[in-house]
Amino acid sequence: MDERRELIVGNWKMHATHLEAIQKVQKLSYRLRPEDFARVEVVVAPAFTALRAAQLVIETDHLLIRLGAQNVHWEDEGAFTGEVSAPMLAKLNVSHVIVGHSERRAMFGETDAVVNRKVKAVARHGMHPILCVGETLEQRESGSTEEVVVGMVREGLKGVTAEVVEAAAIAYEPVWAIGTGKNADPDDAGSVAELIRDTVRSRLGEAAADGVRVLYGGSVNPGNIRAFMAKRHIDGALVGGASLDPDVFAAVVRYWI
Ligand code: 13P
Repeated sequence: MDERRELIVGNWKMHATHLEAIQKVQKLSYRLRPEDFARVEVVVAPAFTALRAAQLVIETDHLLIRLGAQNVHWEDEGAFTGEVSAPMLAKLNVSHVIVGHSERRAMFGETDAVVNRKVKAVARHGMHPILCVGETLEQRESGSTEEVVVGMVREGLKGVTAEVVEAAAIAYEPVWAIGTGKNADPDDAGSVAELIRDTVRSRLGEAAADGVRVLYGGSVNPGNIRAFMAKRHIDGALVGGASLDPDVFAAVVRYWI
């Protein structure tokens, strides 16, 4: 278990132009040390328009920060106006792609079936999916958190190989905790993370369950990250608001200091 490298991802959502992204990546790189990267894999996921600029900074300066995307289309190419494909992202050396974020499910109609196709597209092009799952407040209050989360994991990973899942991440992001300043209770989040790992084990076996990194997301900040990382089944975090300021995000990444 302990051999899983921690993974902390900054989801910038619809913030930062490419010029701002350059500054943020540079600033973040000043704040992090090589030892930090030995322990934590650090990914930033800017908007599509900023990916190229961020890639150039990362590669020109040999930074250890990795590049993520926030969404992808499931087809490799075609008449899909306004969409971006997995081969396009792979060509930019994007390593991780966030799939099925609750904002996309709620506002852009993404179903589990669509999310599943996207997970497969990401894997097909050698990148790692970060599959997002989580219950709404209503679902939590009606006691269906476990059922909702297990269903999203099963549907999202349908037909995906154990090898892909072993190298993938699943982010538990309770919808009510996103952008609200109300983070989940770390014990609760730890239990859901364990449930996610058990679900992966029952579907895909031990190696996939051991390798998959389970992240927590929802109002993570420098003050609460430590409590989440202390949970045995939580291997990292998906961070929204607190990833936009490089000083704050660096404090999240270096949570043990
Ligand atoms: P916040 O950290 O702003 O709550 O956002 C979480 C999130 O949605 C990350 O994907």
